[in-house]
Amino acid sequence: MGIVRDILGGDRVHRIIKEQRAQRSPGRSPGAPGLNCLVLGGGGREYAIAWRLARDQSVATIDVTPGNAGMPLFTRILDFPPDDLGRLEQHIVASHIDLAIVGPDDLVAKGIGQALGRGGISSVGPSREAAKVEWSKSYAKELMAEAGVPTARAETFADAPAQREGLERWGVPVVLKADGLAAGKGVLVARTLDDARVALASPPFNGGPVVFEEPLEGEEASLQALVDGETVVALPPARDHKRVGDGDTGPNTGGMGAASPTSALPDADAQRIADELIAPVAKALVARGTPYRGVLYAGLMRTADGWRVLEYNARFGDPEAQVTLPRVEGDFARLMYALGEGRLAEYVAEQPLRFSERAYVDVVLCAEGYPGTPKTGMRITGLDQLPAGVYAFHGSTRRDPRGNLVVAGGRVIHVVAEAGTMAEARARAYEGAERIEFEGKFYRSDIARQEVAVA
Ligand code: AMP
Ligand code: GLY
Repeated sequence: MGIVRDILGGDRVHRIIKEQRAQRSPGRSPGAPGLNCLVLGGGGREYAIAWRLARDQSVATIDVTPGNAGMPLFTRILDFPPDDLGRLEQHIVASHIDLAIVGPDDLVAKGIGQALGRGGISSVGPSREAAKVEWSKSYAKELMAEAGVPTARAETFADAPAQREGLERWGVPVVLKADGLAAGKGVLVARTLDDARVALASPPFNGGPVVFEEPLEGEEASLQALVDGETVVALPPARDHKRVGDGDTGPNTGGMGAASPTSALPDADAQRIADELIAPVAKALVARGTPYRGVLYAGLMRTADGWRVLEYNARFGDPEAQVTLPRVEGDFARLMYALGEGRLAEYVAEQPLRFSERAYVDVVLCAEGYPGTPKTGMRITGLDQLPAGVYAFHGSTRRDPRGNLVVAGGRVIHVVAEAGTMAEARARAYEGAERIEFEGKFYRSDIARQEVAVA
């Protein structure tokens, strides 16, 4: 009981979700009503996906691997890793899984989504080839040029000698992007030649191709869309905060917090911008014979010359999912199911996607050392102290051998707050952020400040 109280505590919503699920979970017998869902991944984004699924009456069960210490409240955690395709396939058959959603970039890049779909279930996650828009920055640049999507001028240099020569020619400031996956940390804006040289000689830039890009200036926004071939349906836009420090200082991280809606890209413009900046790439992928099916997310910047795409990600954003999925109205599970089956156009024609008017803010509580090597193992307390409208979406948490909830990685807990106004959501999120404690905890104090200043 101690353990359960510790996480549930005053977080009434979790308790309600758990109770509801216990009542309506019909088990896993064939033909039982409701969707049996499988979520792959174990961070804040996957918590948000599972949390949103748990609110749909159409959902019967939710299984997760690897999950984290918060997810057993309303899901079943599987005892094998998310990239064990053999075990996944066995589990899908044995547990009558209907819908699989792939969360993290590394699993997406392996094409697990498509592999699971081959088993006849509905699977949200692109093929490895289509996901290349994320795992190769140089490929993304090539595709954007082909599709006529506006983006920063760029050039790719394959190895160290070419990069040294490239630096002579490009000069500074220059944006350096490691070509492969780097968990949001593979980008550096080098302001001096020395900084650029040091960066090119160290991870993650050494040892592979590097994209050099012109630095752009402007407000950033994150736009996620559901993409099924040429059908593109925008989700609520959000604003992420990528730098580790207040006022956008310090190194890039996976994301220190987010808000939705955002003044950077109002809800009303979301579909039009998706049509302009995501649909052309979806079309180009169809033309190349590698159609996209899944979530395609564009990192955008509004420059003096208009919107530019900074990058594509082949999945939901983290922490964008935490503030946008709660704003998706209607039956999210059925929407995902239609996407994974290749029936998105048909589904949204009948059930147009609507965004809730509620405001959401996510303040990420980080472990000391992040975005470098975080310190782990510290005990987390205070989850039972959260005010109404505030949820602790677990990111990197686990149980120690004594059953205590402890820090397991850099982005520990996402304090997600909901309210009728952004100012209220922001105030609640910070109230929650103060109440949760662990040694070395830090967070940005200016998440969603721009939203409130213009509201
Ligand atoms: P990316 O992973 O490509 O989204 O880059 C991470 C962050 O680096 C972005 O959110 C921007 O803040 C910054 N960034 C990326 N590309 C550029 C660019 N061309 N000019 C200025 N900042 C950039
Ligand atoms: N929030 C940035 C990302 O998910 O890549």
